Formats: sequence, structure tokens, C-alpha cells
Amino acid sequence: MTKAEVFYFSYTGTCKKIAKFLGTELNLPIKEIKPPRLPYLAWLALSFIPGVPIPSKVPLPQSENLILVFPKWTINCPPITYFYFLCKKRGVKLKKILLIISYGGFREEPYAKHYVRKFKDLSDEIKLFLIKRKETEEKLPSLLEWIKKNLEI
Ligand SMILES: Cc1cc2nc3c(=O)[nH]c(=O)nc-3n(C[C@H](O)[C@H](O)[C@H](O)COP(=O)(O)O)c2cc1C
Repeated sequence: MTKAEVFYFSYTGTCKKIAKFLGTELNLPIKEIKPPRLPYLAWLALSFIPGVPIPSKVPLPQSENLILVFPKWTINCPPITYFYFLCKKRGVKLKKILLIISYGGFREEPYAKHYVRKFKDLSDEIKLFLIKRKETEEKLPSLLEWIKKNLEI
């Protein structure tokens, strides 16, 4: 069994870049959470509705640890909320979840706390790394070190 998998949802490519970087550097499987195609304004409106999931194509985690990369969206990221409910419904239990949230520059803390609380149900341990979009490139090496330390790889 692989020690961890990298799951991601990305709308404009930043989280995809982070996930590909981590998966490649750590030689871990990379899995995309694929929502249906909706116009930007629909996503924007949905991001204001707390706790609403949008069914998306995604496999269930197969490893004991999960690295999950996703963007900060107002107060809700519906494909990620869906992934959480799916895992919960299927009784997924993990050892460790590492949440990596990419954000533009505002109100990232309450949003991050909200998802930390949610995903905590699914694992024994949860850790969070926030990464500002503009600083993505320069933060990738420290993110990689952080993952290695947390997963002991
Ligand atoms: C619908 C929507 C809502 C967003 N809301 C916020 C926000 O509240 N705060 C913030 O800092 N960035 C916000 N952003 C910016 C994204 O978090 C940021 O651009 C992130 O890097 C995008 O990741 P991606 O390229 O993988 O989609 C929002 C972006 C979208 C599309």
C-alpha cells in the first residue's frame, strides 16, 4: 500500500500545480476531484452557500494518509465539501490528513479552520498548510519539507 496519495481540486490551475509538484517529488499517486462544468458565476454563487456539496468524480482514498490540495473559496468549496461527505458516508478512516489550501489573500483562516474541523472526523491527525497564490513558487520547497516531516518520508 502507498503511504499517501495526493488529491486535489483546482479551478484555475494553482492547486493542480502544487499537487503535481508534490506527487512528482514524493513519487505519490495524484488524484483529481472533478466537478461538473459550471459557469464561473455559478461557482461563485455556490461558494457563498455554507456546506453545499456538488457531486464530483473522485475515487475514494486508498492509502492511510491523505494530502488534499484545494483553493480558498469564499466560505465553501462545493467539490471539496462533496469529497468530505462521500468519504464520511463510505466510512473512510485515515491515519493522517494534510490539508493544503491555496488562497488569493483574504479571510483564509476561518475557512481553513472550518475544513480542518470537518476533515478531522476522518482521521486520527490533521495538519494544515496555507499557501498564498502569489507566493506559490517560492513556498514549494518549504511545503515539500513540511510534507516529508509530517509523513516521515
Ligand atoms: C469562486 C472563488 C472564490 C474565491 N474566494 C476567495 C476568498 O474568499 N479569499 C481568497 O483569498 N481567495 C479567494 N479566491 C481565490 C483562490 O483561492 C486562489 O486564486 C487560489 O489560488 C485558486 O486556486 P486554483 O488556481 O487551484 O483554483 C477565490 C476564487 C474563486 C474562483
